[in-house]
Amino acid sequence: MTTPNQHSAIAEAASLLLKGGVVALPTETVYGLAADASNTEAVKRIFAIKGRPADHPLILHIADESQLDYWAKSVPEAARLLARQFWPGPLTLILPRSEKVSDLITGGQDTVGLRIPDHPLTLSVLHEMGPHAAVAAPSANRYGRISPTTAEHVREELGNNVDLILDGGACNVGLESTIVSFAGDDVCILRPGGIPVSAIENALQRKVSMVDGSSAKVRVSGSTLSHYSPSTPLELLPQEQLWQRAGELKTAGKRFATMEWSKPDEAHSGMPEKDRISMPANAAVYGHLLYATLRTLDQGGYDYLLAEAPPQTQEWLAVADRLKRASHKD
Ligand code: TXA
Ligand code: MG
Repeated sequence: MTTPNQHSAIAEAASLLLKGGVVALPTETVYGLAADASNTEAVKRIFAIKGRPADHPLILHIADESQLDYWAKSVPEAARLLARQFWPGPLTLILPRSEKVSDLITGGQDTVGLRIPDHPLTLSVLHEMGPHAAVAAPSANRYGRISPTTAEHVREELGNNVDLILDGGACNVGLESTIVSFAGDDVCILRPGGIPVSAIENALQRKVSMVDGSSAKVRVSGSTLSHYSPSTPLELLPQEQLWQRAGELKTAGKRFATMEWSKPDEAHSGMPEKDRISMPANAAVYGHLLYATLRTLDQGGYDYLLAEAPPQTQEWLAVADRLKRASHKD
């Protein structure tokens, strides 16, 4: 149920979007920077506000599965099965585009990314916009930076450049959607995310390969090597090396914080408590906190951030992917 306040915020967001405005909307993954998908000028503003290169395609967010056939030219049965099982939810399907999708959204490619986000406010905005409503929305951060998981983060990232920020609270999942492509000869995963790869494989009853987006023909912005980055240098190290590095930094008089998920090494308990962030040992909970933690640490005046490398298992893929890109040096 929406409160009267939320109801008027939803109406305002829908009306601004229909007039060509750019509105930050909450989703279960991260906040999106949305524009009416049928308004080219509005979609252009997204690229300008984010500072995003034009060849990085945007995901279309829809409210209803029946919209799939409006925006996609053809939908394989396996894609429908995933949609039925995981929507609304953190899954993006890449499908052949219909002629309704503008080149601006697809970066000129013949495919389109579609998803139904699992957030009541954003679903209400889409319903309020009318039939065939879709918003194109990348994450609401400046290009290459940490994705926002609260309305306050969006304000920090984009300030007054957006027409409205619809506050839907903290994002439940906290990491972007899993992107599954049906564009080529075979199904593949372009970006690990909120839905574990194992859940996709279980649903399809088969193994699905992972394509490293940075080597793919398609531009997948989250797959450029450096992405999701704090301004403070982030180093990703196994625990033992992390403490070696901590020793070096201490000797050099540097300020640093650590993010560990495994049992804290007591030998190093001399470090100030506030500089030792204890991260969850559960992948989903870690993922939920990752961006907010990086953002807070980035504002902590540190010279370095040292993150303990996550376990190399399938359930940690999304977290490992984000940490790798956040720590990549150009
Ligand atoms: O969870 C999410 O997916 C969030 C929320 C706001 O929905 N959105 C998001 O958007 O992460 P963005 O733009 O930050 O990342 C979308 C990714 C990009 O890497 C883009 O290249 C890829 O999806 N993408 C979009 N359309 C594509 C297409 N047709 N083919 C291949 N990749 C595509
Ligand atoms: Mg993004």
